[in-house]
Amino acid sequence: MKHVRLGLIGCGVVGSGVLRVLSDRGGIVGDMLLEPTRIAVKHLSRPRPSYVPREKLTDDWRSVCLADDVDVVIEVMGGVDVAHEVVCTALRAGKPVVTANKALMAAYGPELRAMARQHGVSLRYEASVLGGVPVIHALETYFRVNRITGLRGIVNGTSNYILTRMTQEGASFADALAEAQALGYAEPDPTSDVEGHDAFFKLQVLLQVLGVDTEPLRRGALLPTSGANSAGTRPVAYLAAPREGIAHLTPDDVERARLRGEKLKHVASARWREDGVIEVRVGVESLAPTDPLFGIDGVENALAITGDVVGTVTLTGPGAGALPTASAVLEDVMQWAAVAYAGNDAVEDELGWRLNPSRR
Ligand code: HSE
Repeated sequence: MKHVRLGLIGCGVVGSGVLRVLSDRGGIVGDMLLEPTRIAVKHLSRPRPSYVPREKLTDDWRSVCLADDVDVVIEVMGGVDVAHEVVCTALRAGKPVVTANKALMAAYGPELRAMARQHGVSLRYEASVLGGVPVIHALETYFRVNRITGLRGIVNGTSNYILTRMTQEGASFADALAEAQALGYAEPDPTSDVEGHDAFFKLQVLLQVLGVDTEPLRRGALLPTSGANSAGTRPVAYLAAPREGIAHLTPDDVERARLRGEKLKHVASARWREDGVIEVRVGVESLAPTDPLFGIDGVENALAITGDVVGTVTLTGPGAGALPTASAVLEDVMQWAAVAYAGNDAVEDELGWRLNPSRR
């Protein structure tokens, strides 16, 4: 059995979820023993669930990134600036990184991927978009024959949960948001969810996976009137209208849609135009029952991917919460391990080595 030693940076909703899954499974996942050896937290004395091994806590994230007894660094602290430093430190130290951080990947994805390539280590971020639904894996590995012509999805679980509770139960915005926070769906600052930032970050990450230049999006640039495709052959994405969240919606807006037989949903979409420019929208749409996203309720997320050969493929599933997100993080660890340990069984079996690809 291979022994993979994990260094967690952060132990909030997602980090605790990872530790809970590992504790429930006795650390055994497939043919691997996954052991958290170090866990960096901001507040050492904060009360934590019993499955968090307190003796492994430290408030020094750098020591986790650099430790010899850490094979993979898992960044689940959130935020951008310190998380950027964490991931850079780990990659430069030759450690593979798994992150759930969409804001980080939206802002620094191209730089971090290049750094990972330069240091010959893996950087995975499936958990950053659509929680437990493997959309990044699908976009990276499956759509090779198809030219993608559209992405359209419900990608923020908190907004969808709030709108569903308002539509189906007549709940108030504030009550529904409080529930989403209690359930661990919302970001530490839920403004990111309800103002559309979170969905916008996720769409940027998906577009980067498809090789799109998202720099104009990061700057909030609207479609230029001319010269939009001046970057050459690389597709460039622009906002077709200013980014919008759900915080401005009133109970009356929601009710009017319901009486029309429609539902208000927060939708993020990208449409590839004939001239190569990509039009991006992040905002509220009133969906008719015939819309494939109409039935996506609660914390459920969905992404409809349109390819020129296959048509539209829709992936759906739990988009937020401790366990779905922890699932994606640990699947990333297993994806890394499957590649890192491929073909080394004989060596390990014969010599009993604890094989650590990051130290090769
Ligand atoms: N706050 C996010 C959401 C968490 O509600 O979708 C998952 O990325």
